[in-house]
Amino acid sequence: MNFKLDQQELLAFSKEEKVRKQSPSNIALIKYWGKKGNQIPANPSLSFTLSKSFTETEITYTPKKDDGTVSIHFLFEKTENHKFEHKIKIFLEKLIEYFPFLTKLHLKISSSNSFPHSAGIASSASSMSALALCLCEIEKKHYGTLQLEDDFLRKSSFIARLGSGSAARSVFPYAATWGEFVENPVSSDEYASPLTFDLHPVFRNYRDAILIVSNKAKKVSSTAGHGLMHQHPFAKARFEQAKNHLKLLLNVLKNGDVNTFIEIVENEALTLHALMMSSNPGYILMEPGTLQIIEKIRAYRERPGIKLCFTLDAGPNVHLLYSANDSDNVEKFIQKELLTYCENNLWIKDKIKSV
Ligand code: DP6
Repeated sequence: MNFKLDQQELLAFSKEEKVRKQSPSNIALIKYWGKKGNQIPANPSLSFTLSKSFTETEITYTPKKDDGTVSIHFLFEKTENHKFEHKIKIFLEKLIEYFPFLTKLHLKISSSNSFPHSAGIASSASSMSALALCLCEIEKKHYGTLQLEDDFLRKSSFIARLGSGSAARSVFPYAATWGEFVENPVSSDEYASPLTFDLHPVFRNYRDAILIVSNKAKKVSSTAGHGLMHQHPFAKARFEQAKNHLKLLLNVLKNGDVNTFIEIVENEALTLHALMMSSNPGYILMEPGTLQIIEKIRAYRERPGIKLCFTLDAGPNVHLLYSANDSDNVEKFIQKELLTYCENNLWIKDKIKSV
């Protein structure tokens, strides 16, 4: 697929114009862990798209003389942030071949998150996808391209991926896969794809309680963690396992088999952290509270009736997944037994994003 845009003139406009997009975070069920080349995943992944944890980004833009440079002013949560501004400028410079208008405009970018910055939840997926959606919206408005929804989302996902791999999946509602796998001939390493079938109704109303065990900055970034997969003794087996898990999970999402869902999802989470612990150098991102919560969840599941499970991203926080039908009981359980392990009793009540 060619996402480059010809060096044609922008459709004429003289005044200040504005685009604004929201994009959510996502929680991976099959984990992307390991990459090659320019943000190409070592294995396919799958995530649920969330709805309450999102980034909203607004770009106000005015024409400028095209001197080949990118010019931006960046506000995070209404405040100047030079570190983020620098990162975004470097990222946009890499995107000129896909958006030649980037050297012809001055961009005022303002971004804020729906979740507290102190929550320590990863925001690269929501922020990079929101930025990508804004850039595609500018292209759509002024070049007349990307008019079809599918084309618009595919390019947004492609651009988001260049910013942060997991961001590629955030532009689609419900759930998305990213990375080539044989069961879906149109799947790609370059952008994510929506599911090719309807998600089984049991999963459509799924909840994700994000239990904030710690809001401290990660000791090892995801990007560094991906890097450690290059020399990892278990890498080959892991990439095969991810493909097998994905195939099984796709069937589960179609047929509603919650028991197998729980088995695969928890195994993926523990595998991710096992890979970190067995990297060279090895490291541990789970905290004592993470393990306490996992034990409590597994004990609670022994009681008949309620099927809930956990997953983890690259950090100590626990994502507790359950059906909306069980939300009263599960939320009482959270209050009574899990909040004590959360920093400042903080948890975020999220759910799958529908269209
Ligand atoms: C554990 O997408 O944050 O959340 O591509 O380097 O930005 P970069 O990494 P990132 O890695 C996410 C890893 C994960 C699993 C996942 O979301 O699939």
